[in-house]
Amino acid sequence: MRNTHGADVRLRSLREADAADVLAAFRSNPDMARQGEVASLADAERYVRALLRSDGNQIPFALAVDDRLVGLVCVTADPANRSGWFWYWMSEDARCKGWMARAAATVADWALTVGGLDRLELGHRVNNPASGRVARVAGFVKEGTERGKFLIDGERIDVDTYGRLRSDPFPEAEPVPFLDR
Ligand SMILES: CC(C)(COP(=O)(O)OP(=O)(O)OC[C@H]1O[C@@H](n2cnc3c(N)ncnc32)[C@H](O)[C@@H]1OP(=O)(O)O)[C@@H](O)C(=O)NCCC(=O)NCCS
Repeated sequence: MRNTHGADVRLRSLREADAADVLAAFRSNPDMARQGEVASLADAERYVRALLRSDGNQIPFALAVDDRLVGLVCVTADPANRSGWFWYWMSEDARCKGWMARAAATVADWALTVGGLDRLELGHRVNNPASGRVARVAGFVKEGTERGKFLIDGERIDVDTYGRLRSDPFPEAEPVPFLDR
């Protein structure tokens, strides 16, 4: 996918060699702190290894620009229920270009077809509206609100929950090409 800036945007499998770019992403915005504890290259290497050596329950995709990781879309599968927890993050300098929404749509389509899952689910804090927008573009339907779910800086924050079923309509977002799937 060539975007308007001429960058080559692809989805591909996560690699151990992505650790430095994972660290850069975690350092790019304080809001990444809620995605895990990655403060050093060693942390980033552990983070990537944990995703790659998860006995198949974690299905992580790198969103890469000119082959460098700028974002991650991951399905944490629950094989017993043929469902998966769906999550994503993006490095600050690659945000707001619509790439994540399209990548999330592409990975969700994959998970509900080739990936063999029947249901995907996710949740986002209501004070993180960009994440809700990504979810809706990726075909997720809002299912509810968990009131006061998190305590953040002394304030209780609601979380909106979303689901997408195999039988739901597929989104119209332009897919991001897969490099290796
Ligand atoms: C959530 C996140 C992945 C979005 O990444 P992104 O690159 O900005 O996503 P996209 O550009 O594909 O889409 C963002 C959409 O949200 C919209 N948006 C951004 N800020 C918004 C706001 N404050 N209010 C409403 N919509 C907003 C954008 O306009 C865009 O919609 P559009 O394409 O229709 O214009 C990114 O902000 C992130 O990594 N945040 C930290 C980690 C995180 O919160 N992950 C999700 C956990 S549930």
